Amino acid sequence: MNLKNRDFLKETDFTAQEFEYLIDLAIDLKAQKKARKEIQRMVGRSIALIFEKTSTRTRCAFEVAAFDQGAFTTYLDGSSSQVGHKESAADTARVLSRYYDAIEYRGNEQSLVEEIAQYSDVPVYNGLTDEWHPTQMLADFMTMMEHTGKRPKEISFTYVGDARSNMGNSLLVTSALLGADIRIASPKKLWPTAEIQATATKLAAASGGKILLTENMDEALPGSDFVHTDVWVSMGESEEIWKERVELLGSYQVNYETLEKTGNKNAKFMHCLPGFHNEQTTVGRAIANKTGMHDGLEVSHDVFEGPASVVFDQAENRLHTIKAIMVATIGD
Ligand code: CP
Ligand code: NVA
Repeated sequence: MNLKNRDFLKETDFTAQEFEYLIDLAIDLKAQKKARKEIQRMVGRSIALIFEKTSTRTRCAFEVAAFDQGAFTTYLDGSSSQVGHKESAADTARVLSRYYDAIEYRGNEQSLVEEIAQYSDVPVYNGLTDEWHPTQMLADFMTMMEHTGKRPKEISFTYVGDARSNMGNSLLVTSALLGADIRIASPKKLWPTAEIQATATKLAAASGGKILLTENMDEALPGSDFVHTDVWVSMGESEEIWKERVELLGSYQVNYETLEKTGNKNAKFMHCLPGFHNEQTTVGRAIANKTGMHDGLEVSHDVFEGPASVVFDQAENRLHTIKAIMVATIGD
């Protein structure tokens, strides 16, 4: 499989076969690293990491993956570079692609990462936009495969919560691409757009995937291998929106009752993180005090910390999958 010089701007940039190849490569790279037998395929490469929004996992995964493979990174944010406020995406892309072998970009509009890719001579990776979170999808499907021993086509899962943000969109479209069985349980107001639903429906028709969108968790959950959720208010959204979101999503918290409704005693909990499950963050504390939700927001504390939670395996897999995408596109 040759993926040299390819961009990764959204999930559908790859075929199902290519996507699964990247996950299998990540599984192999993970095993190599654990055995301390990693073969470096990116010696001397350099990657620019542009983050116009904050990050822990994605940034660190790119940096550690590059280091493991013998490559070098530069981290650029809005306050310490000209990106965005003094220099356009198009100009930035043309400069950076003279220095670097690849560019990662995290920001707001999908159109910005598309513009960087249009003007860049080197591969561009989307590290999250308002619309898509494609590198997260590699890690999520890798984690689901590891915990079930199933290929994507055999996996059923439910996504509960804000389904019209990057995570809801990406899980829907990736599942449809790979032929998985996805159920989305969310208030209609927070469903993916009609356009994204249409894309997913078309992909599912080709892959044999199944899609269910419902407001009813009881309809969605039975038979799920995994229950996913995400924060109720995403980066870039206004603080003011919390009140409305808690009203809409308060009854969609993932707790033990939710997991029991899967009818599957092995059902696992997933979250891309960061997540609000206690009051040990300033935002978590402020929202809990405002809303009276003192046992977590999108997920209860006991589920987050309990044996069904695979969130830290999922977070670890960001490293191996981001490494896979770089090795495949710019490695030897
Ligand atoms: N899941 C994820 O993208 O985490 P960060 O925002 O910390 O990168
Ligand atoms: N939907 C979340 C995902 C964070 C990784 C956000 O955009 O903030």
